[in-house]
Amino acid sequence: MAAALPTLLAGLQEEATQKLVNQAIKAQENAYCPYSKYHVGAALLSDKGGIFEGCNVENAAYGDTICAERGAACHAIAKGHKVFVAVVVITKDGKGMPCGSCRQVLNEFNPKMVVLTADPKGTIIHRTTVEQLLPKAFGPQNL
Ligand code: THU
Repeated sequence: MAAALPTLLAGLQEEATQKLVNQAIKAQENAYCPYSKYHVGAALLSDKGGIFEGCNVENAAYGDTICAERGAACHAIAKGHKVFVAVVVITKDGKGMPCGSCRQVLNEFNPKMVVLTADPKGTIIHRTTVEQLLPKAFGPQNL
């Protein structure tokens, strides 16, 4: 499994990226965000080639809101996928980066994960990694 990761990362080219972006855009359309009105969609690509979407789901008790990235991670885990090679996050201008809690959760499943942010038209705004967004992270290796 570990050997496949660099290959998948290197191969994260046009077609795979486009598919991931499209799925994240569809998820963004389903965001439940009546309070913030800030629609977020996310899609994770697993090492097995699975794509798992999530969107933000807000709640009248604001603190119970679930972010798109963590929703996507729960979706994937429930389907038996737990190593992710990339995540795409869609926001209105593509400038929204994963929040601190989402960085921590994504780190759990692969610090080397590529993080792409894009706007609803699919224009990529940022390309980085979880490791760059959360350096010196606390993770499974610490326990
Ligand atoms: N949000 C996400 O879905 N992901 C993030 O990484 C940042 C914030 C959502 C939570 C809330 O519904 C809205 O964006 C505004 O904070």
